[in-house]
Amino acid sequence: MAVTIDIALPEQTDADATAVPVAQPLEGLDGRLAELAVTGELRGERGEALLLHLDGGRLVAAGLGKRDAVDEDALRTAGAVTAQTLSRVGGTLCWLLDESLPVPLPEQAAALVEGTILGGYTPGRWKTQDEHPPLAPERIVIGHAGSPELRAAVDRAALLAERTNRARDLANMPPNELNPETLAGHAAALAGEHEHLTAEALGPAEIEALGMGALAAVGRGSANPPRLVVLRYEPPQPTSAELVLGLVGKSITFDTGGISIKPAGGMEAMKGDMAGGAGTLHGIGAIAALGLPVRAVAVLAAAENMPGGDAFRPGDILRAANGKTIEIINTDAEGRLVLADALWYARREGATHVLDLATLTGAMELALGDLYAGFFANDDAWRDRIVAAGARSGDLVWPFPLHPRYRRYIDSAFADMKNGSTLRQGSPALAAEFLREFAGEGPWAHVDMAGPGFLDRSRGDYYRVPGGTGYGVRLIAELASSLA
Ligand code: BES
Ligand code: ZN
Ligand code: ZN
Repeated sequence: MAVTIDIALPEQTDADATAVPVAQPLEGLDGRLAELAVTGELRGERGEALLLHLDGGRLVAAGLGKRDAVDEDALRTAGAVTAQTLSRVGGTLCWLLDESLPVPLPEQAAALVEGTILGGYTPGRWKTQDEHPPLAPERIVIGHAGSPELRAAVDRAALLAERTNRARDLANMPPNELNPETLAGHAAALAGEHEHLTAEALGPAEIEALGMGALAAVGRGSANPPRLVVLRYEPPQPTSAELVLGLVGKSITFDTGGISIKPAGGMEAMKGDMAGGAGTLHGIGAIAALGLPVRAVAVLAAAENMPGGDAFRPGDILRAANGKTIEIINTDAEGRLVLADALWYARREGATHVLDLATLTGAMELALGDLYAGFFANDDAWRDRIVAAGARSGDLVWPFPLHPRYRRYIDSAFADMKNGSTLRQGSPALAAEFLREFAGEGPWAHVDMAGPGFLDRSRGDYYRVPGGTGYGVRLIAELASSLA
């Protein structure tokens, strides 16, 4: 449900709760907050939110940490902690702004709104017994006289946070509910919301007919056949007629590992192996909702990686759509296979600048944890643009090296390449080198979001529940804005 965002002076707002960001050192406080600062009950730490019931109203003091270090992440976190603190209240939340903080007011308000909406997200949609399910604010009021700049900033923030939450919903859906076919249904429904966005889905027969032997093979072990989901956004007046942003998302709706089956422990988290596709889907949806004048195509390579009588096997040699042959070493390295054909398809659809998002390697999660995604690019300008978009949006990326000398890790005695190495070394880099074989001509970047895509636990910032994060939605919107 869409939250309403208003801008109005606090005294003209009938709010269920008012929240005030508080930075350290604590100064300029009055009333009860000043008293609590003296007793040490109010500290202003990042991640702290103190709920007071005063004169029949509610006041939340949301900590930001050290004033000089306050940035948008601190404000998003304050927003999220406040939303959690008020999860028994819902209703209208009024945010007060602080002119003395080192973040300009529009960005301040935007980050508070974004954090409040992300922090109000609950993954417990499938609970039936909860008498008091958590409530998110239905209305957020920014306590200010208002300006066009402020209005634009908070509207954009709310839109992106809501789209991010929709991507989280997809990633959190159980794999008995979300499979390649139902994912295609979500894409069609999204396209129905936007005038210039269209969606189609290629089924197994079309996938085979186009020669996409890698995607077809990964999907073959499952009773839920694969789909190549394609969305196109054609704005009426693109800034450039030539530039087409190509977005490619790994959309493995469940990754058992296939015949190279994964250990049982924690396998349920592999429902999140379509998080790249979820970010891609709602990323292009956000571009359409914002009406950005950038042509874009999104390609979701959707399959369920299962063992089965018809499953592909180690030793198989597949032919991808670009004609290259791949010897299978490990059926659990399925992401690069489905992406190989999806990257080819994105170029075929005219993508000039490509970005793929994938929960590709466990090693990337080991390397960077749950905060940064690792990132590879074949073009310096494209890389710098994406790193900048990541920093601005909060979907962080950190560059890793692409180097042709990693190619020898995937040399095969039998085929053009193999899908994995027997060495336990450099798995994210060799996966990227593999993808490069299919990325075609022109700028291409690969984001390995195995860490930040799907969380086992709170990250302690504005992602405070396990499950999907909607990683990629904000990154894609910011990247497209930079091209507009
Ligand atoms: N989906 C996994 C990667 C993954 C692991 C994502 C943990 C998120 C959290 C991927 O398909 C996979 O299994 N990769 C293998 C590749 C290996 C067999 C070459 C890996 O990284 O172990
Ligand atoms: Zn796998
Ligand atoms: Zn996978």
